[in-house]
Amino acid sequence: MKLTVEIWRQAGPNHDGAFETVEVPDAEEQMSILELLDHINSGIVARGEEPYAFASDCREGICGTCGLMVNGRPHGPDQHAPACQQRLTSFSDGDHIKLEPLRSAAYPVIKDMVVDRSALDRVMQQGGYVSINAGTAPDADTLHQNSEQAELALDHAACIGCGACVAACPNGAAHLFTGAKLTHLSLMPLGKEERGKRARQMVDELETNFGHCSLYGECADVCPAGIPLTAVSSVTRERARAAFRGKDD
Ligand code: FES
Repeated sequence: MKLTVEIWRQAGPNHDGAFETVEVPDAEEQMSILELLDHINSGIVARGEEPYAFASDCREGICGTCGLMVNGRPHGPDQHAPACQQRLTSFSDGDHIKLEPLRSAAYPVIKDMVVDRSALDRVMQQGGYVSINAGTAPDADTLHQNSEQAELALDHAACIGCGACVAACPNGAAHLFTGAKLTHLSLMPLGKEERGKRARQMVDELETNFGHCSLYGECADVCPAGIPLTAVSSVTRERARAAFRGKDD
């Protein structure tokens, strides 16, 4: 398959970037978007030139490290798949593909298609964890957790933290990401212990770095983990609950 690929080249955060055009005469349908970049880079390295920088780790759709815009859409055209799982089967011989970094004011470009997503980490540092001493693991049947709530918690725990939701949002909001974490932890027996403090701190941090949510819904549409749009309501609900209950909850 012959493809024309436009790729963002930017030397660093304080440099201007621009698209470069690369003709790929021998792309294969089963390649992922990242393998297409690997293929292009191997030719560049063989010529002794600088390869394109992009982020990846597991390449199994688990870690959330990969993230780039493919023809203006975070990750690519397929729903519920991160860039490492997007195959070229969605493209045809002769197509143009445009690859660029995830675009958001909260994500400064580090190099080429690598962006700094530490603003999401800072939200997590404010309470996206359980810090109580839980002792040793109890017998499973001593924990009172109904299966419906456990399933709902698992659905929201599926968020891989890639940050595509922020790049898709016209406001640059991270409510889907934060709402997924708040929902997941508030439904778990141990997570309930710090529920109010978590909501106050995480939402304060969210509002420091990201835009407001206007319920456009693009976030849920591009989410590779299929986090439902209802997760964004957790941000308001958990924050209001924390304010109502006071500092001790
Ligand atoms: S590289 Fe881990 S999810 Fe894509």
